[in-house]
Amino acid sequence: MIATATRTGFTRFRRLRRKEPLRALVRETTLDPGDFIYPIFVQPGRGQETPISAMPGQCQYSVDRLPALAERVAAAGVPAVLLFGIPEHKDELGSEAWAEHGIVQQAVRELKRAVPDLLVVTDICLCEYTSHGHCGVLAGDQVENDPTLDLLARTAVSHVEAGADLVAPSDMMDGRVQAIRQALDLAGYQHVPVMAYAAKFASAFYGPFREAAGSTPQFGDRRGYQMDPGNGREALREIAADIEEGADIVMVKPALPYLDVLARAREEFRHPLAAYHVSGEYAMLKAAVANGWLDERRATLETLTSIRRAGADVIITYCALEAAAWLR
Ligand code: PBG
Repeated sequence: MIATATRTGFTRFRRLRRKEPLRALVRETTLDPGDFIYPIFVQPGRGQETPISAMPGQCQYSVDRLPALAERVAAAGVPAVLLFGIPEHKDELGSEAWAEHGIVQQAVRELKRAVPDLLVVTDICLCEYTSHGHCGVLAGDQVENDPTLDLLARTAVSHVEAGADLVAPSDMMDGRVQAIRQALDLAGYQHVPVMAYAAKFASAFYGPFREAAGSTPQFGDRRGYQMDPGNGREALREIAADIEEGADIVMVKPALPYLDVLARAREEFRHPLAAYHVSGEYAMLKAAVANGWLDERRATLETLTSIRRAGADVIITYCALEAAAWLR
């Protein structure tokens, strides 16, 4: 036994850490599945559920498989899904993106029919639909900004016509939120909100997604339109511009490598803020877990908590269903 004289004159932080109920009482940040959005990849065909190798646990689903998945999402208490489409055919302009019977349009109709209360968010971008894999119209090897805006706006309107509750432009063309807002308003969809991928960085962490969505650029990269990873102040300008153009929810993407941007955005803006915990962040967790290097449940919940603590109201994550089950 060590002789102990009781000491004074310092703060005993540990008083509130002695028992779980005490810790829970003073916990500043908690997770709620009601703040999660679950991304889903939709592919052509029937009876298809193709695993994505770099994203263990995630699949590309054919439309007929969506109702069962949607039931699981709703039962988990997750209120929304985010759809990405893998079209039958790609072309220079990405015309299946706005086709009335395009893959996402079919998926939206099927989901709204099967589970009407589940929110359906659609990603608005051309990269899954263009033969070259870039997010806009090409002139030579350059991605043209303004000619792309009309195509994005048409895509958004067609998703909403199919029943989408919320549209989420991810292409990073300038002025697309304005173009989409105007097109929706003109078509009589003033009530449909826009969630803008406002500060979307040119990130290595989208690698697994591009395998899943078949959207790897055939030449070059996306640094001519997505943000440079070094730019925090510019991220705030991007967010301010999207708010000015009419975005209802603004997003920072990826999440973990950009928690500082998220925290600064939280300080600066009053709009609802979303963070996208992207495919590469998911892959890192899964890889470490598969090797027995991390405890999956604790590492996942800690990661999601950090995103909330940094300031996100909404988290888009491939971990949504597992996390929701752990939070029960
Ligand atoms: C489409 C898009 C991408 C992601 C969401 N929308 C890929 C990209 O920009 O290359 C990435 C999502 C993820 O990695 O989970 N432009």
